[in-house]
Amino acid sequence: MYTCENMDWIDALDLANLQSPTGTTLHSKGWQQEAALRMLLNNLDHRVAEDPKQLIVYGGTGKAARTPACLKQILKELCNLEENQTLLIQSGKPVGIINTHKDAPRVMIANSNLVPKWATWEHFHTLDQKGLMMYGQMTAGSWIYIGSQGIIQGTYETFASAAKIHYNQADLSGKLVVTAGLGGMGGAQPLAAKICKATSLTAEVDPARLQRRLDDRYLDIKANNIDHAIDLALEKKNNADNSSIGVVCNATDLLTRLLERNVTPDLLTDQTSAHDPVDGYVPEGMDIEAARNLRKHDPQTYRQKSLDTMVHHVTLMNQLMERGAHTFDYGNNLRGFAQEHGMKNAFAFEGFVPAYIRPLFCEGSGPFRFAALSGDPKDIEKCDQALLALFPNDHKLQNWLTAAKEHIPFQGLPSRICWLRYGERHRAGVKFNEMVADGTLSAPIVIGRDHLDCGSVASPNRETESMKDGSDAVSDWPLLNLMSATASGATWVSFHHGGGVGMGYSQHAGLVILVDGSNDARTRIERVLHNDPLLGVLRHCDAGYEEAMRYAKEHHVHIPMKSTA
Ligand SMILES: NC(=O)c1ccc[n+]([C@@H]2O[C@H](COP(=O)([O-])OP(=O)(O)OC[C@H]3O[C@@H](n4cnc5c(N)ncnc54)[C@H](O)[C@@H]3O)[C@@H](O)[C@H]2O)c1
Repeated sequence: MYTCENMDWIDALDLANLQSPTGTTLHSKGWQQEAALRMLLNNLDHRVAEDPKQLIVYGGTGKAARTPACLKQILKELCNLEENQTLLIQSGKPVGIINTHKDAPRVMIANSNLVPKWATWEHFHTLDQKGLMMYGQMTAGSWIYIGSQGIIQGTYETFASAAKIHYNQADLSGKLVVTAGLGGMGGAQPLAAKICKATSLTAEVDPARLQRRLDDRYLDIKANNIDHAIDLALEKKNNADNSSIGVVCNATDLLTRLLERNVTPDLLTDQTSAHDPVDGYVPEGMDIEAARNLRKHDPQTYRQKSLDTMVHHVTLMNQLMERGAHTFDYGNNLRGFAQEHGMKNAFAFEGFVPAYIRPLFCEGSGPFRFAALSGDPKDIEKCDQALLALFPNDHKLQNWLTAAKEHIPFQGLPSRICWLRYGERHRAGVKFNEMVADGTLSAPIVIGRDHLDCGSVASPNRETESMKDGSDAVSDWPLLNLMSATASGATWVSFHHGGGVGMGYSQHAGLVILVDGSNDARTRIERVLHNDPLLGVLRHCDAGYEEAMRYAKEHHVHIPMKSTA
């Protein structure tokens, strides 16, 4: 049992069986510190993390702490931290405590940041091997990962937007989605497709990963082999049956066979861990064991084989696109590595943000997630009901919250994600704070978000691909976002490099805020959750998006040097 005075429990932690404490007994000197402690442990919960023994949360090698010793020391520092102090984390290691004040963040995190000229996987790996760095991905190192549910909403939004744009349909019924990768993020694809009423077919090279998605009911059927998988997919599609089918194989083998059999998916994408050619992506012609072996003994050869396969993979996707598949990159930098490896037309298909998500970003819409520190699923049910009542005319939100309740099992601390706009997020936060204050919720909750959001990231192959004014690589915006969150009083803030698309390709900021029912929390929530999506509206107005300007005018947002009167 976890206790506050005695920290022996921290030394005794078994990495394979970590869980967040629940209930209302504190293990630290205040709920702000407690929230960080619980969410860090929740990130590493065996029901949440991909490989907790290695401290890996998701996304290839995205970690929550640098080493087990660092993890334990972070927990001890959080237990002892005062309400006027701030703990500093440098790439997963606690490095100091500074004197601050009650409205300052309790934790400030910088992960995987490198000076641009050195911002390569090679240099990162050198530092990592020396024990000087870790890869923080987006929400792994910033302690607000909530399992695969986090990406289901984004994937659902993407599929629903594709249905509207390509078929003028509210959903994808009678359509076939083909993709690959059933890992921490990619595992969301079959379920998101199901909620969007599509048939889906997913290739996954690692049988254990596929089995996990069957066990957690994110995937319906495991096919015996590729031909069986394609037969099943065609049968289900013809019956407008939204079953999800998985098959153990390399993505390239599935796409090759689709081409040979003249089967063209309606939607085609990929979520293998292509952002990392050595520790993520698996080259064709080898099973997962052979891949692990080669990775360990000859990483140079492995990298070469990975890059060769990525070129082949994108070539096959291009061919299926030419046959009529609506093809898009799903944020793993597959096209980027293929191009780097000499492929001329690697960017023939668009990324999912310019294709489907940017109009939402223009309104400051993005991921809004919350987790119940009590551990009680009823707290999330009550928050869902409050959101349904708060935004009765948002049909997409209403559909999502209803479907999520039915289809999404909780992993670790009960949590929920939905997308809310500028002007909505702080209203939801204030409502939740009232519900903690009046005892409707049994304990405080936290509200946070992915770094993938409207104003928090510069990632030219993903969130900021093809910006209207060409400002794709300008990373002043995520830095302004970090500073805004810090000045506004977020409970913990983070700034990372390389999330989603790998080293050298992105910089991004994150925040989490505690909702404990106090008046202080209300003031902070109003500031933080107002300002954070505002940065998204400002960023898209600055880049010249008319939708953003229209939204800014409707909401009386003042933008220096632009007229929103
Ligand atoms: N679009 C987004 O919003 C978004 C968000 C987060 C992460 N990502 C990116 O998506 C990718 C997947 O993330 P994840 O958390 O699922 O990673 P992960 O490492 O947990 O899972 C990747 C899976 O892909 C499988 N795989 C690798 N190469 C394969 C191949 N050639 N064929 C078939 N299967 C293969 C692996 O076995 C693994 O199960 C990463 O590149 C990540 O950066 C995208």
